[in-house]
Amino acid sequence: MRVRAEVTQAFQYGLIIFTLTALLGLANATQIFGALDRNTLLTHLHSGTLGWITMGVIGIAIWIFARGDDDLAAPVMLSALSTAAYVMAFWSGVYILRGVFGLSELAVIVYWWWFVYTRAGGWAGIRRLDIPKLSVVLGLTTLVVGSTLGVTVQVLLATGNVLPTSFDLIGAHATAQTGGYLVLVAAGFAEWQLAGAAGKRSTLGLAQVYLLFVGGLVLAVSLLLASFLGPQLAQALPGVATLLTLAGIVIVAVRFGRTAIAAPWMAASGMRHIAVAVGFLVLAVILQAILVQQFIAAQGDVTKVSMGLLHALDHSYFIGVMTNVLFGAILVTTADRPRLWPWADHVIFWGLNLGAAAFIAVLLIVGSGEGAKPFTHPVSFVAPIMGLSALLGIATYLMRLMGAPAAVSARARA
Ligand code: HEM
Ligand code: HEM
Repeated sequence: MRVRAEVTQAFQYGLIIFTLTALLGLANATQIFGALDRNTLLTHLHSGTLGWITMGVIGIAIWIFARGDDDLAAPVMLSALSTAAYVMAFWSGVYILRGVFGLSELAVIVYWWWFVYTRAGGWAGIRRLDIPKLSVVLGLTTLVVGSTLGVTVQVLLATGNVLPTSFDLIGAHATAQTGGYLVLVAAGFAEWQLAGAAGKRSTLGLAQVYLLFVGGLVLAVSLLLASFLGPQLAQALPGVATLLTLAGIVIVAVRFGRTAIAAPWMAASGMRHIAVAVGFLVLAVILQAILVQQFIAAQGDVTKVSMGLLHALDHSYFIGVMTNVLFGAILVTTADRPRLWPWADHVIFWGLNLGAAAFIAVLLIVGSGEGAKPFTHPVSFVAPIMGLSALLGIATYLMRLMGAPAAVSARARA
């Protein structure tokens, strides 16, 4: 499929930064350099969520919303540079750099929100959007909210302040980004690819989008303001928010679960990646509901929730849902280019997904492997299957994205 050059560029920048995520993930899995410090873990986390996932989502946003006369090469390059700088600032541990580049990253995110909002036709246009596009617009809206909370943390730390204990800024930031932004964007893009025209506006579709949007925001706000809500509301609200998100996901399963299951699982196309992402989305939301239950039972004491469960939930979203969505998107956009290393498609698909499933199962059953001696915890054996498959995906897809579309190279040869 022919897509604009800027879509390809955004995917390329994302893949390059994802290399760092995967290498740090391998170091963490094998523990061959010992336990990773907090700065390095935050680099693993934000190189993945901003460098890989959000650069990829920028590519998807351009693909879905750009107009013919848009020239987006400079915004895409500046976004990649800002993101790379912020990721390195996380690694440096220098608070002032994190503050400055955190603010520039927020500017990048607000720009892309504004881009989809205006291309969607503003407030009047949004009321006519189909369900996949509406999901992406609302997902990016939650990304702006979550990123504003993240930058607030960053600016407070850069200006020498301690974080307020009365607001759970970090918890609210993390939940808005995963339980709101990622859920909506993944559901929207998956439907756009799997169901096509079936994504037109319907009451059930609108119920799905707004349940997911409100569920994500209410969960974030209920964590942010827990100490002001009074004990009963602080206990009840996260549960209510989780129920809204679960109801939204049930509608996802009803509306296009069957199309996902019917995907061509043995064909080396992007569709099976996108279809399996829908399965991981259901798993992630269920794990999130269990985590919220633990959090409520621990009366908001995050140190009492299971680290294995938290990391299982993280990788369900980041690898199971988003890496599959983006690998799927790249395969769809490169379908008309020479298929270099054709054998790699099956290794990447099965390695990434069986590796992720085994990693998640180990984290849930045995628990977190952090701090264990090298190769003494099962995480050391299963996470590398996922990490090496991701690295193979990065190399294969970067080469394919650099190749000219088949029609163009045939014309050049003639
Ligand atoms: C402009 C964008 C962003 C900024 C400024 C930002 C900032 C931050 C900061 C300051 C922290 C706390 C670091 C610490 O513990 O010292 C954090 C943690 C975190 N962020 Fe972000 N972030 C951004 C984007 C994202 C995105 C897109 C995601 C996910 C999709 C994400 C997920 C998380 C998670 C899961 C945590 C860990 C919370 C914990 O420790 O439990 N962030 N972020
Ligand atoms: C988008 C991609 C990814 C993101 C956003 C991400 C995020 C995270 C986060 C938030 C943590 C918890 C860190 C903490 O303790 O604060 C973590 C841990 C970990 N990550 Fe990733 N990750 C990604 C990809 C990968 C990949 C490709 C591997 C491959 C090996 C990997 C392996 C690990 C391992 C082994 C742990 C420690 C788990 C444990 O034993 O508890 N991650 N990651």
